[in-house]
Amino acid sequence: MEARKPVKPAPTLPGKDDGRGSQAATPVRRSWEWLSCRSMTAIEPQVYLNGQFVPRSQATMDIEDRGALFADGVYEVLRYFAGRPLVLEDHLQRLRLSMQAIRLTEPPWVTGLGHVSDELVRRNGLADATLYWQVTRGSAPRDHVFPKGATPTVLAIAYPAPSIEQAGQLAAVEAILHEDLRWHLCSIKSLMLLPNVLAKNRAVESGAREAILHRGNRITEGTSTSVFIVRSGELWTHPADQWILGGITRRLLIGLAPGLGVPVVERTYTVEQLLTADEVLICGTTTLVAAVVRVDGQPIGPGSVGPLTRQLHGAVVDYIKRNCCGG
Ligand SMILES: Cc1ncc(COP(=O)(O)O)c(C=O)c1O
Repeated sequence: MEARKPVKPAPTLPGKDDGRGSQAATPVRRSWEWLSCRSMTAIEPQVYLNGQFVPRSQATMDIEDRGALFADGVYEVLRYFAGRPLVLEDHLQRLRLSMQAIRLTEPPWVTGLGHVSDELVRRNGLADATLYWQVTRGSAPRDHVFPKGATPTVLAIAYPAPSIEQAGQLAAVEAILHEDLRWHLCSIKSLMLLPNVLAKNRAVESGAREAILHRGNRITEGTSTSVFIVRSGELWTHPADQWILGGITRRLLIGLAPGLGVPVVERTYTVEQLLTADEVLICGTTTLVAAVVRVDGQPIGPGSVGPLTRQLHGAVVDYIKRNCCGG
């Protein structure tokens, strides 16, 4: 694994914070402040940057990193429950595919990412965590052309996350519909998330949890979740092609559903078919499974959590308990 020295933090200027913007009336909360509020002790988290574990305040990235200049990079998000990763290999595989898709030559250290993840979670004293991985094409003077010989920038951050007992409560949420304004290669877990960010904020501003995206009349997925609908006892979800991210939780549900006697159909479906579905559910690494009970204010089915969603959610929680929590 490559061991590159982290870039030294720039000196703090008077009247400025750490260079990420002027001191605003509402200061940005760093992740360790959250930790220290809970435990009443000042614990600074460690992050992983370019081969080294460093305290959060000392981790700095170059201003010409292509991740910042061009969103020229990919990322992964995975969950740890009770100190163990959930479907780690699937996440590593998707990271590899994303890197290949943006023509970022797979660095040899990718195989060691599992150990780095374990160590990062351990060093931060976490058992239940969300792990964020980011790989960019590295740092170089701004030019669209791939830089020759740039070393990828690798970053990992571990955030505290709910335990399976807390996360295992099935949520009933509202969603809005939003035109899918993303590019044509949505299967790549690219850093370029502005369309997702804008649509998610529209949802939150209307009191909803998620924006369900559609290209014309065809439903694709949520801004940070995969979408399933239930019609006449069947579970429908958009095929894993260029128009959606191949969600790891989506794949887990597709694997678990037949065991519950629920047939899965990977097919496209319309806005109308979603609005008239018996049930709608969203799923993702941080969401797990949530029931969508209203879309654009319109109730789905009776407007309450449906039986198949409840069963699927239970199956995912059981899977996590069996595979991560020894239960
Ligand atoms: C656009 C999009 N779809 C689906 C998902 C869910 O994928 P996963 O289950 O791998 O977290 C995500 C997760 O971030 C996402 O960003």
